[in-house]
Amino acid sequence: MDIALLGGTGDIGEGLALRLAYHTNHDVLIGSRDPARAANKAEEYETELDSRAVETTIRGGANADVAVDADVVVVAVPPYYVADTIEAVAESLDEGDIIVSPATGMDRDDDGFHYAPPPAGSVTEHAAESVPDGVELVGAFHNLAAGRLANLDAELGIDTFVVGEDDDAKGIVTDIAEGIEGLRALDAGGIANAAEVESLTPLLVNVAMHNDRLHDLGLELK
Ligand SMILES: NC(=O)c1ccc[n+]([C@@H]2O[C@H](COP(=O)([O-])OP(=O)(O)OC[C@H]3O[C@@H](n4cnc5c(N)ncnc54)[C@H](OP(=O)(O)O)[C@@H]3O)[C@@H](O)[C@H]2O)c1
Repeated sequence: MDIALLGGTGDIGEGLALRLAYHTNHDVLIGSRDPARAANKAEEYETELDSRAVETTIRGGANADVAVDADVVVVAVPPYYVADTIEAVAESLDEGDIIVSPATGMDRDDDGFHYAPPPAGSVTEHAAESVPDGVELVGAFHNLAAGRLANLDAELGIDTFVVGEDDDAKGIVTDIAEGIEGLRALDAGGIANAAEVESLTPLLVNVAMHNDRLHDLGLELK
């Protein structure tokens, strides 16, 4: 499957790109607003994988150009720009494509991070308003720590929660997630439940900040 990471030049994009290329046979495409930045990052990821004897080609390009070739498009950009980014690539999407949102809205003050959803209730619900007809939206990867993903020496042993309206699309995203060794994907219901999933992220970040040994922590339900 071809998986495009829009904003794949950033932290979670790097983590997902490296893990997907390392553990799975999916083709990973790195998108950016700046095609040159995407190409540079794709080369950097290839170099890291090559140092681990993984020969792979990661293509970089403008967000809209990589979305054209993708079956699954992960919108790995800051939460305030998810909807605009989907709209910017809408014409590149085909019927049956899947958009994945990993985004959580958070504010920070002296006490730490606080959940700050948009008026729609969650970033995933807000993003749903921009998804073209025939394309399915799935929320996933919200509660993963980018640094832990990007460190290919780190064992994962963590869960990610998957929300969406279409069971087939959720199944495809679940299979992609579980292709990453040590990652389990759990169905958390429809998009109306995205707020509950997204709101876990500031809790995890606050706990990581206040407990040295829990840097880059994740959740595992037992
Ligand atoms: N960091 C984590 O541990 C983590 C974990 C789970 C989920 N998430 C979610 O994943 C998303 C990305 O997080 P991140 O930490 O990877 O963010 P980030 O590194 O700050 O940004 C990711 C990429 O977004 C693009 N971008 C920045 N401003 C933009 C704009 N105005 N319009 C469109 N694209 C823009 C940039 O790519 P270009 O400049 O190359 O276009 C940037 O490299 C967030 O919504 C976050 O909630 C993050």
